[in-house]
Amino acid sequence: MSSLKKIKIIKPDDWHVHLRDKKILKKVLRYTEMFYQRAIIMPNLNKPITNCKRAIAYKHRILQATQINHTQFEPLMTCYLTKETSLKELKYGFLQKIFIGAKLYPNKCTTNSETGINKISEIFHILELMQKIKMPLLIHAEDNNVDVDIYDREANFLETTLIPLRKKFPELKIVLEHITTKEAVAYIEESNPLYLAGTITPHHLMLNRNNMFINGIQPNLYCLPILKRKKHQNALRQAISNGSMNFFLGSDSAPHIYRNKISLFGCAGIFNAPSSLLCYITIFEEMKALKYFESFCSKNGPNFYNLPINQNTITLIKKPCKILKKINLGKDSILPFLSGETLKWSIL
Ligand code: DOR
Ligand code: ZN
Repeated sequence: MSSLKKIKIIKPDDWHVHLRDKKILKKVLRYTEMFYQRAIIMPNLNKPITNCKRAIAYKHRILQATQINHTQFEPLMTCYLTKETSLKELKYGFLQKIFIGAKLYPNKCTTNSETGINKISEIFHILELMQKIKMPLLIHAEDNNVDVDIYDREANFLETTLIPLRKKFPELKIVLEHITTKEAVAYIEESNPLYLAGTITPHHLMLNRNNMFINGIQPNLYCLPILKRKKHQNALRQAISNGSMNFFLGSDSAPHIYRNKISLFGCAGIFNAPSSLLCYITIFEEMKALKYFESFCSKNGPNFYNLPINQNTITLIKKPCKILKKINLGKDSILPFLSGETLKWSIL
């Protein structure tokens, strides 16, 4: 019998992932479906997913690209909010289960957010409907005012936008995506998990802003919200170690081709799908919090979204796993997070 440590958990879901489209989709999807049963698919394609027709067609393309078993992996689609979003369309999409929620990108805050929201008051009528029908709002929670220091954008957004917004819509179900600061942790921790939750990425748990500038500049680690100081990294690590139901897994795996990352005006995003779950277990083990690993990965998310908990399980084993160096894409390639490095945990 093997004496290697093994952990069997309910198969996790990834509550925030970018799969892109076409050639990239075909190459990256296999990693998400290997580790996750369901995933919330971000709508920020070059032509964003702003209505039911585009969501249905995109979901179909994702299912067509699945490798393992068409019936296994379930993509959960989101609607990209603009000030033109039709109330009728949004309501129909949610009630017909085409959309699991809607995504709010502040204008120009990240990849493909040029048609995002300028002023939150532009969409109060949409948020009122969402509160009424209990449709979750997923927020890229950063202040898009270019005068605000990039390291303060999340904390500023909480003060200037989110807190007043939650006073106006106290029963709107909100997920703060990829939180990065102690301020976000503290605010979410003191909120009712029925109405406010946060997703946390493996890279914001493993790294802080120093990592971007060690051994020369590391554009592969540039993501948004940007990596913060170590005290914020520690607050995130502490948050998942307390077993709070307000936090769950959202990898924010965001592939970009190598030449668009390693260039002037390089893109924000870290492609972590091949290692995300292995990173999370490593951190839970380091934090001596393995007893909360399964709820973070597989229970808190479905509870927030009112979905059943998965039936399947997955087993992770404490055996070294080398992360692949790169993914070839014709003349291009994609560099995975932790490319070529070895993690302590593998999938069985
Ligand atoms: O780093 C990021 N990449 N942050 C985001 O918010 C978007 C994502 C992307 O789509 O590339
Ligand atoms: Zn994202």
